[in-house]
Amino acid sequence: MGRELFAGVMSGTSLDGIDAVLADLAPAIVTARILASVHVDFPAELRRELFALQVSGPDELVRAARAAQRLAELYAQALRRVCVAAGVPVHDVIAAGVHGQTVRHRPREGWTAQLNSPARVAELTSMTVVADFRMRDIAAGGQGAPLVPAFHAAVFRHPERHRVVANLGGIANVTDLPPSGAVRGFDTGPGNVLLDLWQARSCGAPFDAGGRFAASGAVDAALLAALLAEPYLALPPPKSTGRDLFDAAWLDAVLGRTARAPADVQATLAAFTAASLAAAIREHCVGAQDLLLCGGGVRNGDLVARIRTELPALRVATTDAFGVASEHVEALAFAWLARETIAGRPGNLPAVTGAAGPRILGAIYPR
Ligand SMILES: Nc1ncnc2c1ncn2[C@@H]1O[C@H](COP(=O)(O)OP(=O)(O)O)[C@@H](O)[C@H]1O
Ligand SMILES: [Mg+2]
Repeated sequence: MGRELFAGVMSGTSLDGIDAVLADLAPAIVTARILASVHVDFPAELRRELFALQVSGPDELVRAARAAQRLAELYAQALRRVCVAAGVPVHDVIAAGVHGQTVRHRPREGWTAQLNSPARVAELTSMTVVADFRMRDIAAGGQGAPLVPAFHAAVFRHPERHRVVANLGGIANVTDLPPSGAVRGFDTGPGNVLLDLWQARSCGAPFDAGGRFAASGAVDAALLAALLAEPYLALPPPKSTGRDLFDAAWLDAVLGRTARAPADVQATLAAFTAASLAAAIREHCVGAQDLLLCGGGVRNGDLVARIRTELPALRVATTDAFGVASEHVEALAFAWLARETIAGRPGNLPAVTGAAGPRILGAIYPR
């Protein structure tokens, strides 16, 4: 009865895997109702290849095309699985928003690259697919990112409380939601990306479970100061970043040749991640009262504790307390953005991305 079913599929900069949701976005429903969700970890060989494709290498055009095909199969699988889990025939789904896998993000050069094969996803699922959400905003002079703030505003904005949403993905981004006035948002810097990198290097694990490794170390004040000197942090919004900047080469350049205990480096990277996020909120979200956290970083108890300590005046909670499970926010945002595109409405916020104006985002691949 009056359902408006949309699916969303996200695979973010952490390169951990795919998150998909199926949701009822009928306007009468205040908070989107998620009918089903799935997470699919990337197979090890695809994960290795996606990491390798983050930097230039031999035959990368062919390798990127092959990785895109493989991703499309996995996106389609995830979409079919959410439908089965919800008991919904694919034809009842109006459209699926499929973000793709970012391998480069160069808005200042006028482009960004998300590996995907939306035509293949449409063939494999018999769903209408909306994809390539970012390029239109960049073509209009914007950053193409972040795109989630319009969704955050629709779902989390409050008439009296000044809220800020922070997504702790590979990269961290915030959305400022004052009770009135413009919604702003930008990437603050690293989320999990440096923590994952250092964990892999020192322990061979994909992430620092619970932040226990970081919690076992001591912050190196000199290293923290060197990390905080990164010029991106001081740039005024609109701004967005990615693995193009915060990668192994960046970290090695800051670490230099000084020998340090691996746990102390991890503690310092966690302190850096929290401090860069908190500084951005203090400077650009003046008067904020509530901080709503989402993304995989909410499972890093050490990181969340550091964020709380940095921002003692804010009430900190995950988005679960506000109606959307923290691991579903991004995928749900792309379901919502697909709805906006299908409805012929713009999905970007020019005040966030810096685009010349509102634009209808993405390309539609009809079922
Ligand atoms: N139990 C955990 N402890 C610490 N960190 C975790 C845990 N589970 C997930 N993460 C972090 O969350 C990341 C995935 O978060 P996600 O929101 O999917 O990011 P992205 O959107 O960049 O893919 C992982 O790479 C890891 O750093
Ligand atoms: Mg992810």
